[in-house]
Order: sequence, then C-alpha cells, then structure tokens
Amino acid sequence: MYALLYRSRARPGLLASDLNHIIETAEARNSDLDVTGLLLYGQLAVVPGAPGEFVQWIEGTEEAVEGLYAEIATDKRHFDPEVLARGPIRELQGANGAFVPSGRLFPTWSMGLVRLSELPATLSGFLEFARDWDRQVATMA
Ligand SMILES: Cc1cc2nc3c(=O)[nH]c(=O)nc-3n(C[C@H](O)[C@H](O)[C@H](O)COP(=O)(O)O)c2cc1C
Repeated sequence: MYALLYRSRARPGLLASDLNHIIETAEARNSDLDVTGLLLYGQLAVVPGAPGEFVQWIEGTEEAVEGLYAEIATDKRHFDPEVLARGPIRELQGANGAFVPSGRLFPTWSMGLVRLSELPATLSGFLEFARDWDRQVATMA
C-alpha cells in the first residue's frame, strides 16, 4: 500500500457546497479506484474571511494514488499544492507505526472530510492526528 500526503490552499471564496461537491465526486471515483483516505479542511474561524487550507492523505496502489494526485493537483478549487510525503505506507509510518493489517490508515473511508481550525501540515503531525482520530472513532463505535 502506497500513500501521498499534500497540503494546498483553498481558492478564496470556496463554499461549503463546493466542499460537498468535491467529497461526492471523490467518494464515487475513489471507490472505483480502490483508493481511501482523508481530506482535512481548515479555516481559522476567528479570522473572518480567512482563506481555507487543505491537507489530504490518499492511499491505494502507487499507480492509482499518483494518477489521482496528478489530476487533483490541477483542480482550480485549490492552488499551491505541496507534497509533504509519498511512498509505501509502512515506510512513511516508520518503526513506531501502529500495526494496520490492511496497511491502510482509513480502510473504510473512500474519502472522509474533517473540518479543523488548525491542520497538521507535516507527516508526523498527520500520523499523530490519524492515530487519535482512530481512537475517537473506536470509542464512538
Ligand atoms: C482538495 C481537493 C481534493 C480532491 N480529492 C479528490 C479525491 O480524493 N478523489 C477524486 O476523485 N477527486 C478529488 N478531487 C476532485 C478532482 O480534482 C476532480 O475534480 C475529480 O477527479 C473529477 O474530475 P472532473 O471534475 O473532471 O469530473 C479533489 C479536489 C480538490 C480540490
């Protein structure tokens, strides 16, 4: 299993309906591609009109992930994409990564959307967020 993590800036004026549209498309296409992952959208609520940001983790085969990212990167609804990490998930997780049987961090999410005020914009920050998130979901279930 291979993954790619990137960050980007949302197009100014992006609406909640745009986000919903992105997720609807993503869920359908990612299912076809056997891709899973998480899209984080951040906007500092304390600053009115503050531009939003994205951090997205995409996982699947290398071919599917890189092909999809090449498309996403040209999407006009965001700009300045910057890859934070890419490679086999085992390697990205490092020696301290929790054991995940499928190798995927989000096996049941074709593409989840989470809104946060502050985004984890590094690989280690994201992995920490993902571990906590996993625990929260487990507690809710
Ligand atoms: C931040 C962001 C994340 C996206 N994530 C995905 C995704 O995970 N999967 C996907 O198929 N499309 C995703 N898209 C949408 C694609 O860029 C593209 O619009 C989509 O693949 C459909 O292409 P089409 O609009 O030409 O039909 C994302 C777009 C943005 C702006």
